[in-house]
Amino acid sequence: MQLRSAFCITAIFVMASLVLAQEPAKRVERGPAELTSPASGHDMFMSYCAPCHGKEAKGNGPAASALKIRPADLTALAQKNGGKYPAMKVTAVLSGQVDLAAHGNKEMPVWGKVFWRMSGGHEAEVQQRVANLNRYIESLQGK
Ligand code: HEC
Repeated sequence: MQLRSAFCITAIFVMASLVLAQEPAKRVERGPAELTSPASGHDMFMSYCAPCHGKEAKGNGPAASALKIRPADLTALAQKNGGKYPAMKVTAVLSGQVDLAAHGNKEMPVWGKVFWRMSGGHEAEVQQRVANLNRYIESLQGK
């Protein structure tokens, strides 16, 4: 039983790295997506978003300079949306429904796909991850 769950975890890591490897490489190192708790928006943000958007979400993460398009300042989302945090929009961006390619090359990974594989196809867990990320990013507005 223990051996089996160890195998599953390895499989998740391999799959996550394959998903990320399909994105254009462009000098940004894309390692396997680290497994985080779906309950912690903070941990997910630090692992999956901070490399580009920065720990403080201002758009100045360590990988930002290697990107053609500057990652957005995620603390200004509400301000840019008439004072209301755009949860639906962030959800759409994460699931790949919003085509950010309109602004140039598609450099923002489609996290929904990564989360889907990470959860072994459990939609409820994917939604939990997106909801908790949203809650965390909302808490950063205006900081
Ligand atoms: C590989 C770098 C990279 C990573 C990792 C990344 N992003 Fe982005 N993100 C970008 C870039 C670049 C843009 C700007 C794209 C554009 O304007 O076309 C962007 C744009 C966005 C936008 C749109 C903002 C707006 O004002 O329209 C949101 C929301 C967003 N990212 C959220 C996230 C979240 C949440 C995570 C973590 C789960 C994340 N990003 C991880 C690079 C990244």
